[in-house]
Order: sequence, then C-alpha cells, then structure tokens
Amino acid sequence: MGIIVPVQKLSEESYALVICYPKPSSAELEKRIKELKELGISAIEFSGSKVVANLPVLGKGCVGVVVKAYRGGEEVALKIRRVDADRSGMHHEAKMLAIANQLGVGPKLLNSSDNFLVMQYIRGKLLPEWLESCTEIRLKLVMKEILEQCWRLDAAGLDHGELSHAPKHIIIDEMDKPFIVDFETASLNRKPSNVTSMVQFLFIRGAVAEKINNMLGSRNENLIVEALRRYKMDRSRSNFEIILETCGVYVTTL
Ligand SMILES: Nc1ncnc2c1ncn2[C@@H]1O[C@H](COP(=O)(O)OP(=O)(O)O)[C@@H](O)[C@H]1O
Ligand SMILES: [Mg+2]
Repeated sequence: MGIIVPVQKLSEESYALVICYPKPSSAELEKRIKELKELGISAIEFSGSKVVANLPVLGKGCVGVVVKAYRGGEEVALKIRRVDADRSGMHHEAKMLAIANQLGVGPKLLNSSDNFLVMQYIRGKLLPEWLESCTEIRLKLVMKEILEQCWRLDAAGLDHGELSHAPKHIIIDEMDKPFIVDFETASLNRKPSNVTSMVQFLFIRGAVAEKINNMLGSRNENLIVEALRRYKMDRSRSNFEIILETCGVYVTTL
C-alpha cells in the first residue's frame, strides 16, 4: 500500500504537481480540489510502478496522470487531465468510454468532470509484463478475448485509435480478464480498425509480437495478412473467425 492523502490535504506543495501536472498554479489547484470533492473523491493513494514528481502513480501519458483513489470506501482509478493536454476537457473520453462499456469493453466509467475521469480500478499488469509469467493456454484465451473485444468495437463503429502500438493500453487483471484502456483518441467518425491494428500489434510487428510468436510457435504471417485484408473488405463474423484461426487463438474447448 502507498501513501493515502485525504482530498483536503492535496493543496500541499508536494502533491500539487501531480494534481496540476506539469505546471501547478494555486488557482488551478483550488479549482481541481473543489472538482474532486464534487466527484465524491475522498482520498488519493500514491502507489504504482510509475513516478511523477517523486510520487508513485499508476500511469502517465500525454493527456493524463492516473492515480489510485477512493470514493468513499471504494477503490477507483482517477485520470487527471494534464494542464498542458491538448484537449479542453475529459468529456469526450468519458463519452467514448461509456459506449465501450455498453459493449463490455474498458474499465467501468463511474463519473467524470472537466479535469477528471473516475473509473473502475484494474489491479493487474500491462500486457508486456503479464507475458513474462503466463502459460500458452492462458495466453491463447487472453488473446482471443482481446480480439473479441476489438471485434465488438469494430461492429459498433467505435475506433479506439491507439491499438497498433498498445503496450500501455491493455491491462490484464488477476483473473486474466483483459481491459483495453485510454479512449481519449477514440472516435465514432473513423473507419474502425481495432481488430486489424490489434492483430498487427499482437502478432506481426514489434517486441510484443515477437514474444507472443515465440510462445505460440510459428504461424504463417502471409495467411494472417491475407485474412486481415479480407476482413478489411468485409468485416463479417466469419472473416473475423478466420483471423482467429490463422492467429492460432481459436479456442473451442478447454
Ligand atoms: N482503470 C485503470 N486502472 C488501473 N490502471 C490504469 C487504469 N487506467 C489507466 N491506467 C494506467 O495508467 C496509464 C495511463 O493511462 P492512459 O489512459 O493511457 O493515459 P493517457 O491518455 O495520458 O495516455 C495506463 O497505461 C495504465 O498503466
Ligand atoms: Mg495512453
């Protein structure tokens, strides 16, 4: 467990930089603390494997800093908008995540405001780290579930936008349930390419693909590329299942 700081203590200088990363001002800090109270956040817990301003946090990206927090007694994940983020608010991400949730994808959205997103806290590991300790059958099941989630996003027309290189966008919890995170760049106005991007990331290009291919044994990359090409032309369920087969994750029985 990390350091738990009640919301009313967050105005102290050492925490200001996390709440208003990377450039704190007292006016902005005050506004944000008020917003946190309105969201019902009672405390923030500084814990996790990343570090911001010398404090441990769950994650950090271009738009936000993600920390563990408490809403009453409930553990939640709190995404804090960076003051230098090129987005005016968290409302777009909240809207996209809410749609993903209806498809059974993403951490559950609990609440949102201008500068914060409150969501289900996922206790788990990012995919590259999870790969270090999984077995072949667990890997196949998790790969299949990730692709099924991408299929549902494709079918609903919601393009995540950052899945072709997603080492920080898939968290796998302690029950081996994968969660796709970060719907900040998601859109309903692009042609969805969740399945094709994810297959490229998992099986074709980069360090994660190399590791997975080593674990699952060699598959025919040309066949995978061909299956993706066919799926791009016609995003039918049967074309999707051919992708699962060529990727070697079509698990019918346990
Ligand atoms: N619901 C969550 N539970 C636990 N950790 C999370 C959660 N959401 C995000 N994270 C962690 O925070 C990191 C950054 O989140 P992300 O939404 O990608 O922020 P950004 O938009 O700034 O890139 C993720 O890579 C992940 O490690
Ligand atoms: Mg991100």
